[in-house]
Amino acid sequence: MTQAFDADGRMRHLLTLDGLSREQLCALLDRAGNIRDAAMGRTQKRSTLCGTTICTLFFEPSTRTRSSFQIAAQRLGADVVNFDASSSSARKGETALDTLKNLEAMGVRGFVVRHPEDGAAEMLAAYAGEGTTVINAGDGRQSHPTQGLLDMLTLRQSKGPDFSRLKVLMVGDVRHSRVARSDLQALRTLGAGEIRVCGPAPLLPDDDTLAGCVTGEDFDSMLEGVDAVMMLRLQRERMEEGLVASLEDYHRAFGLTAARLRRAAPDAVVLHPGPVNRGVEITEEVVDGPQSLVLRQVSNGVAIRMAVLEALLG
Ligand code: CP
Repeated sequence: MTQAFDADGRMRHLLTLDGLSREQLCALLDRAGNIRDAAMGRTQKRSTLCGTTICTLFFEPSTRTRSSFQIAAQRLGADVVNFDASSSSARKGETALDTLKNLEAMGVRGFVVRHPEDGAAEMLAAYAGEGTTVINAGDGRQSHPTQGLLDMLTLRQSKGPDFSRLKVLMVGDVRHSRVARSDLQALRTLGAGEIRVCGPAPLLPDDDTLAGCVTGEDFDSMLEGVDAVMMLRLQRERMEEGLVASLEDYHRAFGLTAARLRRAAPDAVVLHPGPVNRGVEITEEVVDGPQSLVLRQVSNGVAIRMAVLEALLG
């Protein structure tokens, strides 16, 4: 694993939440919680990253992660370059590493990387120059650390800091989800009381991703009494054919409806990382309903990304 910390113990890259201590996670959550006004643009732009150029280096589509990193960097005073693989020399065969090296040669110091291959951000971090920082904005099925952090901030704001009291249910396509892996790592580190995972057997991983979790295929019984339901998107772009019979069957068995949600605790909250397949993993009524924290997650994304950029590059 590429060293994410420098010789002084300062975090240099953020590649995964695996291995971060509870104190390190909480420090980022605390900082994000304290800069919410700045993150929402309600205070003047800061100058913390004035003179620093950051590149969002995306080889996969994104709405939330890319925009919120851009907004976060700009609200900290950084200059931002948005690299779009579909209109770049990647189309002519240039590798991700050559792309990074060329942008480094232009003085870019921070790279926010999204890539379809597991381990891509770690590989780029391994070859990056000494003063360069790499932040993983989602690699393959492996890791999406800032999504994990923003989900924990959202849970903490609504349920309080003591995760040991929480029963959390994660639902859906865990096998192909980097969000699920980062969320599970963070939930364990923060000491979640009970983690339940529900989905069709072909969409549940058979490695140690689910260690310590209660797993099952009966969504109705798994929902009983939970405090938070974390829905996942069906990652059809990463899925082999035939893993899900049909979207209608999937919705019947694993779609979160208002009627189903009544099985959870009365004050249960619903999270979804987006983009949402309305009517597949979750109904309109639930995603737009009073228990949904989906847009709060999006707002928290800016605060978390400001906290991460500040910690690594400030
Ligand atoms: N949650 C998330 O990663 O969304 P985007 O793919 O739109 O960035």
